[in-house]
Amino acid sequence: MIKKTIETKLSIYKFEELNEEQKNLIEKAKDQVMKAYAPYSGFHVGASVLLENNEIFAASNQENSAYPSGLCAERVAMFFANAQYPDIPVKTIAIAAYTNDKFLAEPVTPCGACRQVLLETETRFDTDIQILLYGTESVYLIENVKQLLPLCFEKSSLNS
Ligand code: THU
Repeated sequence: MIKKTIETKLSIYKFEELNEEQKNLIEKAKDQVMKAYAPYSGFHVGASVLLENNEIFAASNQENSAYPSGLCAERVAMFFANAQYPDIPVKTIAIAAYTNDKFLAEPVTPCGACRQVLLETETRFDTDIQILLYGTESVYLIENVKQLLPLCFEKSSLNS
């Protein structure tokens, strides 16, 4: 029997320590939380996606009275970006969450379905997507989606 441990690498920053591009992307994600349609959860999420051509697409979570029909901010933003620019890789995604009249102190991390969608874009273009998770106390920086989704199912799995 072989036992393995899989590590996830992340860096934890104060917002002030980030570079201007990262700060700007986070601000765009923060702007989005007020546009979220989240009457059922009251949990407002904003996501902004930076493409290699420097365009930014930002979006928010969109809920529905038939709960599973809603969609997380990350997927709305990613699909929005990929639909506009199907040939341009995504460089970075920033995510911010707001509830009970404030941004969260510690970041939320994307749900499993969003990780899978992010992974698809990362493997589709074969370029890392950096993930910035905003909290008022800490900002997590994760170098690529694979870090968040080890032992993943991806397009190469279909041919194995
Ligand atoms: N949500 C997101 O938009 N992104 C996340 O990373 C976590 C959860 C949304 C889905 C739902 O509208 C609400 O937050 C509560 O789960």
